[in-house]
Order: sequence, then C-alpha cells, then structure tokens
Amino acid sequence: MSEITDPLQQRGAVQPRRVADSQSEMTELVLPNDTNTLGNLLGGRLMHFIDLVGAMAAYRHSRAHVVTASMEHIDFIAPVHVGDLVILKASVNRAFRTSMEIGVKAWVENAMAGTRRHVSSAYLTFVAVDGNGRRLPVPALLTDTADEQRRYEDAGRRREQRDHERERKRQRQATREAQTTTTA
Ligand SMILES: CC(C)(COP(=O)(O)OP(=O)(O)OC[C@H]1O[C@@H](n2cnc3c(N)ncnc32)[C@H](O)[C@@H]1OP(=O)(O)O)[C@@H](O)C(=O)NCCC(=O)NCCS
Repeated sequence: MSEITDPLQQRGAVQPRRVADSQSEMTELVLPNDTNTLGNLLGGRLMHFIDLVGAMAAYRHSRAHVVTASMEHIDFIAPVHVGDLVILKASVNRAFRTSMEIGVKAWVENAMAGTRRHVSSAYLTFVAVDGNGRRLPVPALLTDTADEQRRYEDAGRRREQRDHERERKRQRQATREAQTTTTA
C-alpha cells in the first residue's frame, strides 16, 4: 500500500464536535508586574491572556497543536487594576478547513466589592498543525443554541472579509514586485 504523504489526507475524517466540548475559561490575578505606571493592567498582557485562553479552545476542538494566525477586532473597554481578577472565556465560533475562529470575552472582577464588568472582546484565528508545522484539517463545528448559530454565521461573514483583505494585500504586493523588476 502506498504511503499517504499529505498531512491533510493522513488525518482522515475527523468527527464533528460541539461548541460546548471545547469552551475554555481562565482566571488571572493582576499582580504589580502585569501593570503600567498607573497600576493598570498592560494591554499587551491582556492580549497574552486572550491568546492563551483562545488557544485552549482551539487545541481542545482540533486535538492538535495550534498556531495563532491572527488576532483582530480587540476592544479595551475599561481599565483593570492591580488586585483585580480577570476572567476570560473562549468558544469556537466556526471551524473552516485547517483554521478556527475563536471568540474571547474578558471580565474584571473586584473580589472585595464582589462586582464584575466586561472589559474586552476579541476574535482570533488559529490554525491546526502537526509536529512539523504542517497544516491539519479540523473537525466541523456543531452548534446547539441560537447564540452559537448566530456566532457561526457572523464568523462566516468575517472570514469573507478577511479573505478579501488578504487577496487585496497579495495583489498589492505582486504589483509592487512587478514595478521593482521593471525599474531595476
Ligand atoms: C498561520 C499559517 C500557518 C498560515 O499558513 P499559510 O501558508 O499562509 O496557509 P494558507 O494561506 O493556506 O492558510 C491556511 C489557513 O489559515 C488561514 N489564514 C492564513 N492566514 C490568516 C490570517 N492572517 N488570518 C486569518 N486566517 C488566516 C487561511 O484562511 C486558511 O484557513 P482554512 O484552511 O481553514 O481555509 C502561517 O502563516 C504561520 O505559520 N504563521 C505563523 C504562526 C505563528 O507563529 N503564530 C504565532 C505568532 S506570534
């Protein structure tokens, strides 16, 4: 029997998984080392937490290594202070061929006051890869609730916009390279 060398084929059929199967949550205590000179959580540190919890959901859904392809549409709605708890939740919004869009939402909890408010939201795309960095197919996503279905459809629209933007960049780059060759 001939050996299958394409990693997309090697993995064979992958069973669909439900949104709930990979939903992930993380809680972080904001320490002085995470903050700026005002004692507020650094935006980059919050992005790190968002990347981590997003990767957990992608890892669980794909059961493969994942790499971050993009992080987009990130809002920082309110400052987070030293001593606060940051609670992050991640869900797979949609699975494509080798990539998955993950939605992450973050809240800040003041444990002393017992209050919680929404501080940030983001969409990330992760790509499943094998140990050699070759892309792998991901399982399809099954939605169970109206909210999950709405997120699934919204993710499809964002994917179309991303593809359009990537194509535009590719064409711009090709034009630039052609101009460089002509003038050289
Ligand atoms: C992400 C990566 C694997 C994509 O590889 P590529 O050769 O560009 O592959 P393709 O163009 O065939 O795209 C593969 C998939 O990724 C998606 N993708 C690629 N670039 C993307 C981007 N910028 N945003 C969203 N999705 C993207 C494609 O839509 C495609 O999805 P699909 O298979 O589900 O249809 C590659 O660019 C990479 O390894 N990047 C570095 C990742 C990394 O190190 N992350 C940490 C950064 S600090």
